[in-house]
Amino acid sequence: MSLFDLTGKVAIVTGSSRGIGRAIAEQMAVQGAKVVISSRKAEACQEVVDAINGKHGNGTAIAVPANISSKEDLQRLVDETNRAFGKIDVLVCNAASNPYYGPMSGVTDEQFRKVLDNNVISNHWLIQMVAPQMIERKDGSIIIVSSIGGLRGSPTIGVYNVSKAADFQLARNLAVEFGPHNVRVNCIAPGLIKTDFARALWEDPERYKQSTQGAPLRRIGEPIEIAGAAVFLASAASTFMTGQAMVVDGGVTI
Ligand SMILES: NC(=O)c1ccc[n+]([C@@H]2O[C@H](COP(=O)([O-])OP(=O)(O)OC[C@H]3O[C@@H](n4cnc5c(N)ncnc54)[C@H](OP(=O)(O)O)[C@@H]3O)[C@@H](O)[C@H]2O)c1
Repeated sequence: MSLFDLTGKVAIVTGSSRGIGRAIAEQMAVQGAKVVISSRKAEACQEVVDAINGKHGNGTAIAVPANISSKEDLQRLVDETNRAFGKIDVLVCNAASNPYYGPMSGVTDEQFRKVLDNNVISNHWLIQMVAPQMIERKDGSIIIVSSIGGLRGSPTIGVYNVSKAADFQLARNLAVEFGPHNVRVNCIAPGLIKTDFARALWEDPERYKQSTQGAPLRRIGEPIEIAGAAVFLASAASTFMTGQAMVVDGGVTI
């Protein structure tokens, strides 16, 4: 059997209506997982569900819209997944926000709190809701999509970077707490990826050049190039790996 096989596994992927989250959900379905597609917009989620079910059969994917800012929404996401598929083996905390661009001296308290709420506390909530059943079954993989921003300083996305650095520490702490129960927690740290989220950084040719000229691979990444890391972390291929941050950035941070 392939080490990457996910047959019989159930995965929730937040922010999976497009971008990195969609690619992760699609590739997990390719490996045999049942996947839960979630974002704020029901219609966008349903479109992804129809595409996945069209390829892999009805019942492979379901849509459960949820705003990561809302604890009630996240509880519903977990409850509906349990109702539909009976369990959760893999949790991918992928959705995040970056509502402020500029130096940290200019950020309002409200903006700073929003970033910490959506990028750190909401991950903590969702993990609190899902981890107990994983601990009981002594099996589970939790994946947080962080960013190489959490490894570096920045004059413009410092607030976001603080939140992404906190995600690395969240994974390390929880890896220690959950390790004795065979529940693993890891981060993926993508570099610049061609999605709506980072559009401002790659659409303008001058910015694109700035972003890629120091990169060993001389280009930005595609969402599918992050999906393989998520399949690896969800599967038997990574059963001895926990608490780590997997950098996937075309070599930028080296
Ligand atoms: N793109 C990059 O260069 C890059 C680099 C490093 C790290 N990352 C990280 O990768 C992750 C995914 O980003 P992406 O680039 O794939 O972004 P994206 O293409 O803009 O997709 C974001 C997804 O999250 C959903 N979403 C946004 N706000 C949400 C909320 N409050 N509640 C629930 N869902 C929400 C969006 O759908 P709705 O709008 O329908 O809610 C969408 O499905 C983020 O954690 C980001 O920090 C991205």
